This record gives sequence, C-alpha cells and structure tokens, in this order.
Amino acid sequence: EKAVGILGLGCYVPEKVLTNHDLEKIVETSDEWIVERTGIKNRHIAAEGEATSDMSVIAAERALADAGVSPEEIELVIVATASADHAFPSTACLVQDRIGAKNAAAFDLSAGCSGFVYSLGVASQMVKSGLYKKALIIGAETLSRIMNWEDRNTCVLFGDGAGAAVIGEVEDGLGVLGIDLGSDGSGGKYLFQPAGGSRRPASHETVDAREHFIHMNGNEVFKFAIQIMGKTAKRALAKAGLEPADVDLLVPHQANIRIINSAAKRLKMPMEKVWVNVDKYGNTSAASIPIALCEAQEQGVLKKGGTVLLVGFGAGLTWSSIVLKW
Ligand code: ACO
Repeated sequence: EKAVGILGLGCYVPEKVLTNHDLEKIVETSDEWIVERTGIKNRHIAAEGEATSDMSVIAAERALADAGVSPEEIELVIVATASADHAFPSTACLVQDRIGAKNAAAFDLSAGCSGFVYSLGVASQMVKSGLYKKALIIGAETLSRIMNWEDRNTCVLFGDGAGAAVIGEVEDGLGVLGIDLGSDGSGGKYLFQPAGGSRRPASHETVDAREHFIHMNGNEVFKFAIQIMGKTAKRALAKAGLEPADVDLLVPHQANIRIINSAAKRLKMPMEKVWVNVDKYGNTSAASIPIALCEAQEQGVLKKGGTVLLVGFGAGLTWSSIVLKW
C-alpha cells in the first residue's frame, strides 16, 4: 500500500500583534483573566485589506518551496476555513489561480477548527487511491473580520493566520497511519455565525443585531473539547496500532491552554511532548495545527520516523485526529 504524508510545510501570520493589554482598552477585561483562563497573551491581526486568500498564498508558496514541488505538480487544493474571502467562489480557487496551480481541482472545506486535519484526511486518501499525485492543503482564517469587538467572551480568544502542507507519496512505513474524523451537528448552535447565509440573509436588521459575528457558548464548547480530544486521539492511534505512549509529539488545536492540559492528562502525555503556542497566536481556528507543525519543524522537533499526533475540535461540532510517522 502506498505511503502518503507531508512533503513540506509553510505558515504565515500577519505582522500586527494585539496584546492582552491592547484588549484592556477595547473591552472590560484584564491580562490576568485572559492568561489564567486561556493561556493567551498575544494574537496577530490581519492588516486592512488583507484577506484569507492573501495569507493562504504566502503559506502555500512557503510549503511548496519547503517541499521542492512546483505549483504545476499540484492536482488538488483544499482550503479549510470558516472565514473565506467570499461565500463563492471558494478561497481554494483564488489560491489555485494566484499560485499558478493550473492542473489542480480546488475546493473549500468547512469543519471549523478541525478543518486542516479533515483536509489532511481527505487529501491523503485521494493521493493514496492514485487519483492525484500531489495535493496542497491549507488552513487559513481571518476571524478578526467576523469578531464582535464588543464581546469580551469571544474577542480575546481568536487570531488570524495561515498554514499549509504539500501532500504526496513518502517512504514506506512513514506518513498517515490512522485517521479519526467525526461530528455532532446537534452542537452546531454552540459556535456559529447566525446571519449572512440562506437562513438569515444579510439585511439592515441582521447587521444592527450583530448577527454576522461569531456567536459562541464558551462553556459548552469547553465541555465538548475536554471530553472528545482524548477519545478521538485514542481512536486514531488504535487504527494505527499505537498507544499514547508511542507518540513523540502531540500537536493539539490551540484554543485554550486548559483544554490542551486536560487532553495531555487524559492521554497521560507529559507536556514536554505537547506543542503549545496558544500564548503567541490565540486560537487561529483551522490555521492553528499547521502553524504549530510549521514551528515544530523550524525548531527541529519533527524527527524522521517520529510519531506525530494531530488532534482538533471545533465548530460543527467536529473533531479530528490523525497519526503520522514523520
Ligand atoms: N475578561 C474578563 N472576564 C470575562 C471575559 C474576559 N475576556 N470573558 C468572560 N468573562 C467573564 C464572564 O462574563 C463570566 O462572568 P460572570 O460570571 O459575571 O458572568 C466569567 O468571566 C466566567 O466566565 P466563564 O465563561 O465561566 O469562563 P470560563 O472559565 O469558562 O472561560 C472561555 C471562558 C475561555 C471562553 C472557555 O469557556 C473556553 O475556552 N471555551 C472554549 C472556547 C473555544 O475553544 N472555542 C473555539 C472552538 S474552536 C472553533 O471551531 C472556532
């Protein structure tokens, strides 16, 4: 059976940093509250006019360079996002055009913060099946544009950024070994953008009621995340015939340090084996896992043959875990 994995990584965050102290001037909050409840200190915010496809293109070009793959070799582009440039065309089509991936199919994937791992699941299986040789997957968000900057319950949590990976055939025994993707749509109401779609099209009323922004029931999402992360991670590991103790690096979705600590505890994994950068970027949703992977690679933590476990959860509600040998 063909072994399929990640050939190259790239990431990008906008230059502008918004600190907790900056937020103290915008809403009634404090650096202490945000750090204690979330672990977040900074987040990066897109510049005026900078959209999800712009960040995606930079991350994608870096991933292609890292993989040594040309845009023409890419046969599939997937962009995982909840903050696309437009409802249509897809952000993936905008990226396909701008990077010159003229031989690629392209589509967006909507699975909230699980989107990058979902995309890795889809792309790796399409390459494994022989349909495509190389794919480009991107997790990218400009959540700052759909943030209610008057709602302290949400505006302190999120940040903007993008991460990308080139997918293709790897040496035998390496690459994707186990996948667990899942959903529970009954929890969709806990994290959503009420207006702007066919249910509640844009109108003066929806704008006045701030229904185009993220609405979240933080406690419900928190409870969901705590109970699902250990379960989905163990399911993906079991499919690969592995145990939590075999994992060299856990890369969890970066939403909240308390959620990450709890997942590590449930998997009985020491924090030295867990990648944490939520302090620097906040929750960048679909971009969080590829940005973390990109950093881990830059810092030499990803060793050939090492076992890496990606675990995400998010809007949908959805969850996602993939085990890879690097
Ligand atoms: N600053 C100060 N006080 C605040 C702030 C803030 N930024 N935000 C909320 N509070 C207040 C609340 O109003 C509440 O006050 P009250 O008791 O007077 O009503 C108090 O702090 C406690 O609020 P809780 O919601 O109980 O705080 P909790 O410890 O649960 O933390 C948090 C809230 C951080 C949102 C947590 O629930 C969480 O992280 N949830 C998960 C969110 C998440 O991961 N979302 C993303 C999912 S991924 C995706 O797909 C995008």
